[in-house]
This record gives sequence, structure tokens and C-alpha cells, in this order.
Amino acid sequence: MIEIIGPLAHTAANRGNSDRSATGNAAGKTAPLQKQLIERLQQAILGGRLPAGSLLPSSRLLAAEMGVSRNTVVIAYEHLAAVGYVVADKKGTRVTALSSRAARAEPPARPAAPKVAYAARVGEFKATRTYMDGALPLTPGTPALDRFPLAAWRRALERSMERALPLALGYGTPAGEPALRDAIAAHLRMARGVRCEGSQVIITEGAQEALNLCVRLFTNPGDVAWIEDPGYRGAKAAFRQGDVRVQPIPVDEEGMCVPPGAWAAHPPKLIYTSPAHQYPTGAVLSVARRLELIAEARRCGAWVIEDDYDGDFRYSGEPIASMQGLVDDAPVLYVGSFSKTMFPALRIGFVVLPPAIAAHAEVALYEMLRGGHRLEQLALAHFMEGGEFGRHLGRMRRLYRERQQALREALTEHFAASEILGGDCGMHLTLRLPAGIDDDTLTERAFAKGLAPRPLSSFALEQRAGTNGLVIGYGNTAAEQLTPAVRVLAELAAGIEKPRRRRA
Ligand SMILES: Cc1ncc(COP(=O)(O)O)c(C=O)c1O
Repeated sequence: MIEIIGPLAHTAANRGNSDRSATGNAAGKTAPLQKQLIERLQQAILGGRLPAGSLLPSSRLLAAEMGVSRNTVVIAYEHLAAVGYVVADKKGTRVTALSSRAARAEPPARPAAPKVAYAARVGEFKATRTYMDGALPLTPGTPALDRFPLAAWRRALERSMERALPLALGYGTPAGEPALRDAIAAHLRMARGVRCEGSQVIITEGAQEALNLCVRLFTNPGDVAWIEDPGYRGAKAAFRQGDVRVQPIPVDEEGMCVPPGAWAAHPPKLIYTSPAHQYPTGAVLSVARRLELIAEARRCGAWVIEDDYDGDFRYSGEPIASMQGLVDDAPVLYVGSFSKTMFPALRIGFVVLPPAIAAHAEVALYEMLRGGHRLEQLALAHFMEGGEFGRHLGRMRRLYRERQQALREALTEHFAASEILGGDCGMHLTLRLPAGIDDDTLTERAFAKGLAPRPLSSFALEQRAGTNGLVIGYGNTAAEQLTPAVRVLAELAAGIEKPRRRRA
């Protein structure tokens, strides 16, 4: 047999172990020799060297030949019998026919690509480069992870473990921990002028799940949803998942700019907007347009999703209150996230529903969601109630203001002819580029140098003038790194002579 399956590799360790198994200690650590023997026999069977019907040596004989304990062979045979390679009867242990069929089947050289009929919506998702860890300088949307108050967060987590375990290991309510819902409502009333109680706040896995939830709660397949163009890709993805028809709405310096006749031509069920700081152009939606959007949405029976993703970081002028709080009973679903105010991996966001809807939607939520991440939610509630969250926001606001200033100065110096957009809030600035400097090419080359601004064109649904540019994050990049980084961008831009395609 040893000629067929080859000798086993005995080491000092497994020799010692096999001795233990020889004394009948099945729980002893004989696995290495047993495992080797099982694999060798399997390979010989599958490779046809032990064809169907072959009688294997008795356990005593094979043990002596291979230099292992009899128990090792007995267990190996039992394993092979359990998975169908061999059968044991009065005459001994034989290789089964099943395994010889498997052995005859030629293994494919390389597994063929599976033929899968994907849902049509999957085909609409385009591959784009994502910088998931946000570690590269200039990545938009990433906060200063190295400035997060880890010690205070650890204390909050420990406190929630001390107080809420073991119960918090079980499912929570699908709408989220009541303490966190209340803490968020209190913050939103005070900081963002949102009219809400904790009972209206539904905790979600980041803003993304909040957007998905809005689509599932308020649209049917085939309904029309409006989205700012250029706009947030996450909103586009949420709409596509819900099989709604996406209608791009252009954006100008006053934010979302609904073309005349659009309400009649494409009556929407959902409208996605980021009024405090349009993503990615940074425009602030004017009050006149806010009021008009609310009035028309109400008339048309549509819901406005207000994505207030970075409104907590406002640097200039009076804080602009939310659209949700602008008038009584606004048809607004206010969406927020802790990805920027805390850190993205926390995956906690929320949607504020109108009171009547919230009570009704909880029934659907019980079927659609499962409550979890309870310790983190309780810790976050504590972090907010105890004032840590507010102090962190204050520190980050000062830091980001300084970083934005450094970025603005560097851009003004190195891209003097280009327009800088946005900057009233948030963690990114947008730079319009002349048509001759293709933004895809520039960001590819920047990436090769370890910098990760995004091409403005990648946020466009329709190719329009003015969508060639860079979306440049400063949240995760120290002020002193910004000038050299912008200098690199400027050198790369100067090296791009011909546009690959004309857009702007
Ligand atoms: C416009 C916009 N909305 C929302 C978010 C937050 O999404 P999430 O909470 O799913 O991380 C982001 C993150 O980059 C964003 O850019």
C-alpha cells in the first residue's frame, strides 16, 4: 500500500501523538497523521490508483506498514466510509463505485465562469474605483480618523457592556435602541432645526440603508425618482435597487434646479436632494427653491429625501436649518449619518419619518429589518448624552475649517484659472477643470502617486457642460500635506495635453 499512497511524514510531534492514540486515547492529538492518511487514501481513490472494488488492507496491516497506530487507521477508514469513498462489510473495507465515477471525471482545467441570469438592475452598476479604507490623502468623505477620541469611545462601549449585557446580545427593536433615537432627536432639534421626537427616528445601517428603506417604503417598481445631477452615487444605487425610473435633475449654483414642466412630464414619487451642501458640487439649495420643492412635492404626492450627510460641519454664515423643519408637516424624509461625524465603519445612520408614517411604518419595519448593533447604539447614545459627541464635533469643525482653508489657498495658487465650488460645510471642495484636462486621466495618474481625489464626471448621470473636475477631500489630510498634494495634481494636470473625451 505504501507504494500506492506513499509514506506519511512523521515528525517528533505527531509520532508522540500517535503513540497516545495507540493507547486508545482517541481524543489525543493524532490529527496530523490521521489527516495525512485520509488525504492520501482520498487522492489514490480519486486518482484511480485505488479503483472501485479494491479491497483495502486490514487496519492492523496498514498500521504496521505505515508506522502508525491501529486507531489512526480505524478512524481514517471510518471517516472515508462516512463520506462515501469506501464501504465496510464482513469481507473488509472496499472502495465504492461512486468514487471511481468521480475519479473518471476529468477535473476542469479552470472553473468556467458561472452562467448566472443576474437581475437586470445588476447590469446597471458600473465598476468604479473605490478607496474603501479612506487612507489616501484627498479621499472625499473620509473624516480625520486619527483624531477620533478613541479613549472616550472605548469608555462608552465598556459602559454599555457593563450595563446592558447579556440582554443586549439579543435582537433589538428594528427601529433601533430607544435611547439612541431620543439622543438623535434631541441633537437634530437643536443643531439642525428638525421637528422630531425619538419615535420618528429609525436607526439604519448608515445613510445607505436609510435611502434603501425610503425606496422600499415609498415606491413601487416603475415609479419615477428624481436625483440631483451630478449627484450622490449611493442614492442612484438605492433607486436602481428598487427598480424605480431615475430622472436626473440638473444642479446650478443654487442647488437642484427643476426644469420647467418636469413636474408634469415626470411626476416623481421620491426626490433625492442634499440641500445643505449639494454632493458633489457643494451648492446650498436656496430657500426659494426649498419652499417650491416642498409645495410641489406636496401637490404631487411625492416625498423629498433630504440627505444632510455633512450639515453638522458648517463654517460660514448662520447655520442653515433643515428643509424638514422649514414648514409644518413638510413631505420630507430627513436622512443622516454618523459616517462623517463619528467614523464610517460604525455603520449607523437614520431616517426621520413624519409622526403618522413612523407609527405605521414600524409594522413594516418589524418584517423588513432586524435590530442589532445594540452595544454600539447604546454607546453612541451615551456618547451624545454625555456631551462627548458635541465636543468632538466642535474640535473637528475647527480642524476641517483650517484644512479647507489650506486646500483653498493651494488650489487658488496652483489652479488659478479654475473655479472652486462649495465649502460652506463638509469635508470636500470641488474644482472645475478646463475641458483639456480630462478628470478620469488626472485621477488615474494621481492615484498612481498615492492621492485619491475623485473625477467629478463620475457623479454625472447625463453628460453636461461643467462636469469635468475633481472632488477633493480634506477631512483625512493634514493641512501641511495639502499644498504638496495640490502641487502634484497641478504638475499632473500640466502633463495632460489631449483630452481623452470632451465633456465640459
Ligand atoms: C452624499 C452622501 N450621503 C450620505 C453619505 C453617508 O453614507 P453612509 O452613512 O452610508 O456611510 C455619504 C458618504 O460619503 C455621502 O457622500
